[in-house]
Amino acid sequence: MAVIQAVDYDALVGEDRVHSRVYTDPQVFEDEMERIFHRGWVFVGHASEIPNAGDYRLAWVGRYPIIMARGEDGQVRLLSNRCRHRANTVCQIERGNTRFFRCDYHGWMYRNDGSLASVSYPDAYDGSFRKEDFGLVPLPRMASYRGFIFGSIAPNGISLTNHLGKAAEQIDFFVDLSPEGEIDVRGGIHKYGYRGNWKLQVENSMDGYHPNFVHKTYFGLMSRKGIAAPTRHFGGSSIAVTRDFGRGHVMLDYRECNREGQLLSVAPGAEKYRAAMVARYGEARAKELLNAGGTHLLVFPNLIMIGVQLRVVRPIGPAETEVYLYPTLLKGVDPEMNGWRLRGHENFFGPAGFGAPDDIEMFERIQVGLRNELDPWLVLSRGIARERREPDGTRVGHVTDEVTQRGIWREWKRVMTGREAEAQSAAMMHLAAAD
Ligand code: FES
Ligand SMILES: [Fe+2]
Repeated sequence: MAVIQAVDYDALVGEDRVHSRVYTDPQVFEDEMERIFHRGWVFVGHASEIPNAGDYRLAWVGRYPIIMARGEDGQVRLLSNRCRHRANTVCQIERGNTRFFRCDYHGWMYRNDGSLASVSYPDAYDGSFRKEDFGLVPLPRMASYRGFIFGSIAPNGISLTNHLGKAAEQIDFFVDLSPEGEIDVRGGIHKYGYRGNWKLQVENSMDGYHPNFVHKTYFGLMSRKGIAAPTRHFGGSSIAVTRDFGRGHVMLDYRECNREGQLLSVAPGAEKYRAAMVARYGEARAKELLNAGGTHLLVFPNLIMIGVQLRVVRPIGPAETEVYLYPTLLKGVDPEMNGWRLRGHENFFGPAGFGAPDDIEMFERIQVGLRNELDPWLVLSRGIARERREPDGTRVGHVTDEVTQRGIWREWKRVMTGREAEAQSAAMMHLAAAD
């Protein structure tokens, strides 16, 4: 029998460096599934994707196949996509509307609230078989914020509110770009996969150091069209900053470069939109929201929010990842405005876009480079000496500094070393003692 050696996570992650193994080792990947994806909060989807009774979408929480479904009662549930008979998945179609999930193997039928409606040829089951004991098992915990639905396979743990912390404010920035304060996540979806570790995408999404190199072609094209002045956002002289809110939630903050919502000034119907925003939120808040232009945020571990898009990262293996991009629509704006958002998204992130494909190429090259371990360390020291702390504990640095990467790894190490679980059980004992 193979003996599984416990991985020493303190030895693999330093304050300013990580070891190659964190991206390549199958045991590390197993531990990530168990400790990060099967214990903590994981983003599943947005309530607006399934607005009507019977709407559903398939999803994953770590290795667990699940169904996010809205029952006849209007409630959203996260149900296991596993038949209670002999484990067949009861739904294979990515999204749709149904009153029943029927298992194809022996025909058991489940209602869209997960309860077992019928078994085939029931007379062979004796009186001890009770249908109410055999519904699709719901995830132990589900919670949502502004329609963002998170699930957890662990029955106990930190609340979603405490998990999100200051990231919640950034979700507000994203959603409140709608004059109705609501987004619609039915703007279509881009999917891509790559032969690389999932954390390469997570780190890259929060990397303000790379754009002028990896995305040179795109920015060149944009400036020839006179659309933006990218160096103001991304270069060494940028006034944008990186932020680390703790618990792995980090962001690139471009608010300082986007005064007066300049990006919006080229949008069709910008004036009408601005007026609707002022009418809803008042002058000061509307200005703040338009400056923010959404957000550029990682909600650890698997949700990324960039401008108009939600990006969900799904780890499959140490060197295999799927990514789902959902460009969002704003409720309460003209179709031209939403169209403009979608076109901008496609331009950079789309399959034939000028941005995302270049990033993916980097991930695959890194995964190759990692095989050479003569010096196995990756260096994350950029800007460590000029990092500063705000009074609430948020760490801030220049936009090209690796504040965000260090924040991600700090949280990763905390969870992977098990100090997260210790802190939680200590907190629960403290609560129990206080009762
Ligand atoms: S496995 Fe689903 S009915 Fe048998
Ligand atoms: Fe990029």
